[in-house]
Amino acid sequence: MSRSSDVTIFGATGFTGQRVAAEALRSLPPELRITIAGRSSSKLQALAQQLGAADRLQVLGGVDVTKPESLQAMAQATRLLLCCVGPFRLYGEPVLAAAAAARTDYLDICGEPEFIERMELRYSAAAAASGALMASAAGFDSVPADMGCLFAQRAFAPPAVPSSVEAVISLSAPKGTSIHYATWWVHCRVSLGDPGYLFTSVMLVQCAATLLQERQALLDSVGARGGVFTVGTLFRGSSLLQRLDEHGVKFSVVGSS
Ligand SMILES: NC(=O)c1ccc[n+]([C@@H]2O[C@H](COP(=O)([O-])OP(=O)(O)OC[C@H]3O[C@@H](n4cnc5c(N)ncnc54)[C@H](OP(=O)(O)O)[C@@H]3O)[C@@H](O)[C@H]2O)c1
Repeated sequence: MSRSSDVTIFGATGFTGQRVAAEALRSLPPELRITIAGRSSSKLQALAQQLGAADRLQVLGGVDVTKPESLQAMAQATRLLLCCVGPFRLYGEPVLAAAAAARTDYLDICGEPEFIERMELRYSAAAAASGALMASAAGFDSVPADMGCLFAQRAFAPPAVPSSVEAVISLSAPKGTSIHYATWWVHCRVSLGDPGYLFTSVMLVQCAATLLQERQALLDSVGARGGVFTVGTLFRGSSLLQRLDEHGVKFSVVGSS
């Protein structure tokens, strides 16, 4: 199937979607074809102008979660779909379903655990059959927590492994993740400038860049089959931690014994 776009940002007219579009223009390699998609062509065209990228961005209007054929056409036209349309429990399922059916890789910025788990349950088989790599919660939920667990795990010298991980969110310093294992412990910190919308766009775009550029390695690491994964499972063997660090999401070991 030929695809006219490498990455499509669905819901680009929204508060977060606009920031994701700006971050994609700033951070993704210039050779990648980026589409901004949503209901209103005029709003999307205005956004492209506002971002000073009318020449670079493709615009796809008329895409509505209540119109399955519009979702199908959008999913079939791109390699990777980034969904910024929420609330996900109301709007998310038909979008993810269209991506799974079209063998289109998929990431979203959901922070609703019930939706995330329901999608894994319902669409893992379809994604495995089609070969799509899919993960929900690739923003503030749950990149710091998931990748922070991986980072903490790697802070233990093999064969030691953490038996449990405690994650704590603090909006004022100190910020951190604490781990206890028998008498050994490692205290790690994930720090980022803005906990919500701004860094959600940074994290989503770095997940997208990783998926687009390291797809085969990701596929191999999850058993050479598509599926609906957690962020930590999908990106565990990738360069995502390093990319996040380079873009202001810092993982560090604060102390250990
Ligand atoms: N977990 C996290 O880290 C995190 C961070 C940020 C945001 N979020 C979540 O992301 C979602 C979006 O947040 P936001 O603040 O950016 O919302 P928003 O500003 O209200 O944007 C909503 C977007 O959804 C689109 N939309 C609404 N109904 C639609 C439909 N029927 N078909 C197609 N598109 C439709 C809107 O398009 P129109 O312009 O046409 O109305 C708009 O682009 C929310 O669920 C929010 O909780 C999560």
